[in-house]
Amino acid sequence: MSNILFLCKERFEDSLSAEITSKCGAGGLLKKSPGLVNAEFPSDQLLPEKFFIFERQRVENAVFIQEGNLGNMARDVVKNILPGITRSEMQWTLHVFPPEDTGISIAPKIKYFKKQLIDFCRDHFGRVARRFVLDADLRKENMMVLNICMLQEGLWGAAMLSENLSDPCPGGCHRMIFDEDAPSRSFLKVEEALDIMKTKPLQEERVFDLGAAPGGWSYAFLKRGCIVTAVDNGPMKIMSLNSLPGKLVHVKADGLLYEPESRLLPADWLVSDMLVATGKNFALIKNWLGGKRARKFIINIKLPQVEPYPVIKPMEEWLNARPFIHYNIRQLYHDRHEVTLFGTVDI
Ligand SMILES: C[S@@+](CC[C@H](N)C(=O)[O-])C[C@H]1O[C@@H](n2cnc3c(N)ncnc32)[C@H](O)[C@@H]1O
Repeated sequence: MSNILFLCKERFEDSLSAEITSKCGAGGLLKKSPGLVNAEFPSDQLLPEKFFIFERQRVENAVFIQEGNLGNMARDVVKNILPGITRSEMQWTLHVFPPEDTGISIAPKIKYFKKQLIDFCRDHFGRVARRFVLDADLRKENMMVLNICMLQEGLWGAAMLSENLSDPCPGGCHRMIFDEDAPSRSFLKVEEALDIMKTKPLQEERVFDLGAAPGGWSYAFLKRGCIVTAVDNGPMKIMSLNSLPGKLVHVKADGLLYEPESRLLPADWLVSDMLVATGKNFALIKNWLGGKRARKFIINIKLPQVEPYPVIKPMEEWLNARPFIHYNIRQLYHDRHEVTLFGTVDI
């Protein structure tokens, strides 16, 4: 059996479990606790190529080390998990994180544990320690990761290749920096999606932003020089508009019915953050992506209160049947009761 620990947003443990069972069959044993799903699979179980929608981070082939004196725990990690890193000959970094639910802050404990671990490694395994990179940015470089989830009762850890992490940030906390000129916190969601797509909008690219008000997403594209059509009956509130390099047209209309002039299609970007039911978003996806009306897309999908996965599953099936659409659906760190669909369309 192999053990995989999945971190998720708190209160989405059932959604993640439903998704895992739907995609991997009922063979795996799933144990849930706040912000965590611990899955035990038969060793020959194949996992889907894509990350699960509701996972925030994963610890593959996780080894459990019982709570105790932190120095002893660090030694146990070095003895039981570090060999995976020693063998690889690659550079490596250390991620230690709590699950999201941790009521009392365990930040000081984590800081002390990391120090114990690095010191012990330096004192006893100099060659491996010389390959250690402190606070590596895994968005920019691949390396091994000593990936550790710290709990009250012990820790789960594994040596993993950074490209196998569900997110390059420790524990999947993909925190973006807010721009004070952005008119809404939603700005963070689109920035995170762009960061994960490893794409920067280009000057002069044409963007349709549906459900745009007050303008956080539009702002993200305008500041990069794009030509943005913002569709929303609500008011746009971008105060710094005149100093931005991009151009904005605000169309007061229903984004579900909005028809751009055909000469403007296909667009470079369709982005949508409309507060509409999942079924309506599905119709929008079929129309815009199925109709090859945009090359790149970021679509935020609001979830129903109960059992979100069954309403997303038909979308995945529809998208999977269209190989010209390259997509991911993820619950981003900055998402709330929603998930984000992003990707590209071959045109
Ligand atoms: C979460 S807010 C969007 C925030 C925006 N992305 C930002 O960054 O500031 C949702 C928006 O969807 C808009 N909306 C809801 N239904 C819509 C529809 N059918 N057509 C256009 N906009 C819609 C609402 O007016 C609201 O402004």
